Amino acid sequence: MRVLVTGGAGFIGSNLVDRLLSEGHEVVAVDDLSTGSRENLSEAAKSDRFQLHELDIRDPALIGLATELRPEVICHLAAQISVRKSVADPVHDARLNVEGTASVLTAAHQGNTRKVLFASSVAVYGRPSAIPVPDDAPADPRSPYAASKLSGETYLATFRALYGIEYTTLVLSNVYGPRQSPDGEAGVIAIFTDGLLSGTPTVVYGDGTQTRDYVYVEDVVDGFVRASGQGGNGRRFNLGTGIQTTDRRLHSLIADAAGSPDKPGFAPPRLGDLPAMAVDPVPAFDGLGWQPRVDLSTGLKNTVEWARSRPR
Ligand SMILES: NC(=O)c1ccc[n+]([C@@H]2O[C@H](COP(=O)([O-])OP(=O)(O)OC[C@H]3O[C@@H](n4cnc5c(N)ncnc54)[C@H](O)[C@@H]3O)[C@@H](O)[C@H]2O)c1
Repeated sequence: MRVLVTGGAGFIGSNLVDRLLSEGHEVVAVDDLSTGSRENLSEAAKSDRFQLHELDIRDPALIGLATELRPEVICHLAAQISVRKSVADPVHDARLNVEGTASVLTAAHQGNTRKVLFASSVAVYGRPSAIPVPDDAPADPRSPYAASKLSGETYLATFRALYGIEYTTLVLSNVYGPRQSPDGEAGVIAIFTDGLLSGTPTVVYGDGTQTRDYVYVEDVVDGFVRASGQGGNGRRFNLGTGIQTTDRRLHSLIADAAGSPDKPGFAPPRLGDLPAMAVDPVPAFDGLGWQPRVDLSTGLKNTVEWARSRPR
């Protein structure tokens, strides 16, 4: 089938592009290369079933492209991804994540797309009352980023009601793996890996007991592939492991994989950081036939290996 991936030059998007191509699909990546790169797509570019369109998802040309190419499925990953940036500039976040999603859904309608898959975030759960958080937990958006992701989820339901476009929302926990950028605050694993390999100081915020649920990018990509079929229509699923890992343990595991000293610096906790987070992935086992398969130490070894071989 033909699949359009927005944000296809980014960390998760480019891994998804490679997986879809490996399964014989035709893949159209749309990306403005604001944080993504052509380098991420160097393997994909060798395939005659792949095309990259350097385009902002809000550009009306996206609708023309979808009308011409009629992608059966659209995986919508292009976004402003930083919670902190969304707090600093909520209007910019809304322009990209709300207007952008409305544009992608309009393109899906014009292109007669069967299904849209949407990358949402655990941020929509805010400060949950129970961990692991079930995928039907009440929304509690506490940042403009969370509000814009929740708005995206609402738009999916609206376009389904209007035009019958199917959708599945995939709520991603903390994704890590090859191609994640160490720039910015999004990926602590990429940041620790970069620091430990280059010998620059690494910092743990708080006392190191804060927890997160880390899921390997290959597993997340597998969730998208499974959701592209008939399963999970009109539903939201968590893609995570349900396992909490503390910041301090994470640092030790990466130091071990990198063969570096395990001596982080400590700084005061950052305002607004949640003390703990993990999501309940079990409904995705039944609904999508999905399960996370890569354990943290294997995933970290792969990530360190990739970071070591990356030109600096
Ligand atoms: N990485 C995580 O842990 C995580 C967790 C939850 C949700 N998500 C979501 O997954 C998606 C992908 O995240 P990622 O970590 O791969 O980030 P990323 O920054 O690597 O990928 C985003 C891609 O979108 C592109 N993009 C941004 N604005 C665009 C625009 N206006 N038009 C076209 N392209 C645009 C960027 O160039 C980039 O290639 C995002 O929607 C993000 O919110 C990620």
